[in-house]
Amino acid sequence: MEQIQIIDSKKHVGETVTIGAWVANKRSSGKIAFLQLRDGTAFFQGVVVKSEVPEEVFQMAKNLSQETSILVTGEIREDSRSNFGYEIGITNIEVVSESHDYPITPKEHGTDFLMDHRHLWLRSSRQHAVMQIRNEIIRATYEFFNNNQFVKIDPPILTGSAPEGTTDLFETNYFDQKAYLSQSGQLYMEAAAMAFGKVFSFGPTFRAEKSKTRRHLIEFWMIEPEMAFTHQEESLEVQEQYVAFLVQSVLDNCEYALDVLERDKEVLKTYTKLPFPRITYDDAIELLKKNGFDDIEWGDDFGSPHETFIANSFEQPVFILNYPKAIKPFYMKPHPTREDVVICADMIAPEGYGEIIGGSERATDYDFLLEQIKNHGLDEKEYSWYLDLRKYGSVPHSGFGLGLERTVTWISGIDHVREAIPFPRLLNRIYP
Ligand code: 4AD
Ligand code: MG
Repeated sequence: MEQIQIIDSKKHVGETVTIGAWVANKRSSGKIAFLQLRDGTAFFQGVVVKSEVPEEVFQMAKNLSQETSILVTGEIREDSRSNFGYEIGITNIEVVSESHDYPITPKEHGTDFLMDHRHLWLRSSRQHAVMQIRNEIIRATYEFFNNNQFVKIDPPILTGSAPEGTTDLFETNYFDQKAYLSQSGQLYMEAAAMAFGKVFSFGPTFRAEKSKTRRHLIEFWMIEPEMAFTHQEESLEVQEQYVAFLVQSVLDNCEYALDVLERDKEVLKTYTKLPFPRITYDDAIELLKKNGFDDIEWGDDFGSPHETFIANSFEQPVFILNYPKAIKPFYMKPHPTREDVVICADMIAPEGYGEIIGGSERATDYDFLLEQIKNHGLDEKEYSWYLDLRKYGSVPHSGFGLGLERTVTWISGIDHVREAIPFPRLLNRIYP
């Protein structure tokens, strides 16, 4: 008997096969048992008919407890009534390992309970669907940047620099020196862009943010492209093409997962239309003020209600351009005609999911950067290598960072970023 994975059903319709699976749920009557099974690739139904199998097989099926691991043998059939489209008509069951008192039962559980059992919660169908979408976004990321001649470069995790400000650093000992877990690989990617032209990184980043919101993780994954000889306008085009490509890839390759999550595919399709709208920070402030937000002034950073209102005004991902210099990191290029703003943009996702990309053109002037490093209270010695990049053939360059989990949360249409990463690190949570 060939052992297969249920995801390959299409090639095996009418054949008798064996599948390694777990029992997710079951219901039975006197004559028939329906097993809700999962084999890692998908959730599917196994049907055991009393009159068609030996009595002990039927009795075993009726008594299987949740999460028992089994080898099931039977015929693959089409099943147009289910999301998945195939089922197995079971003729034999072999128990691999028993499972008793599985804590996550089909009833509702509270969030803390589920988070404490994240190692088991990952087995449930919604979590499985979200991870499939995460996987597709990772796959599509490599495809997009490979197709566009970017070189993948890996910046270090242990560093001496703090590109995004010193308030939320994770400090650690590096023998007799101080080091930090990387907040962003950007500064190293700027060095890499001067060596390879177009580069991208994809790795974990760490922020000791005291934020307990549905958008903040302590450890999250970021994709950071950096492009030499590139101004901000061209970078925005890469950003919108990349995000539209991610949405299209999920639509093309994750239909089943989107159905499990009941994500509206028609709405997702509208996010593949380019270009995405652009609004300046100045105009966004005006828009908010005109619509009754009197809690915000020019110079303030947006809170999530502000971002949500701006995003809802466009119904597509929207770029907010050129923020005040005072609320952005030290490395951004100053505006050519205005002292108070920098050449940057955040991309805000629709439907209240907030900022998914932060990016900018980078300052190229040595003296300006040195001044900025001092003004931001950073240690000049730690940035001497970075300043070298402005001494030896400096060129206009731009880049951005896309937060993987926020993007997964948005495209999946789920409520909280903690479900977009297998083992979330949150404020006050490092278990499991
Ligand atoms: O806007 P940020 O801080 O930008 C940077 O780090 C730049 N150095 C990137 C670059 O230009 N190379 O972060 C980029 C993105 C945000 O838009 C958001 O999607 C995500 O990273 N992000 C977080 N995601 C989850 N939890 C957090 N605490 C996050 N902080 C930022
Ligand atoms: Mg940002």
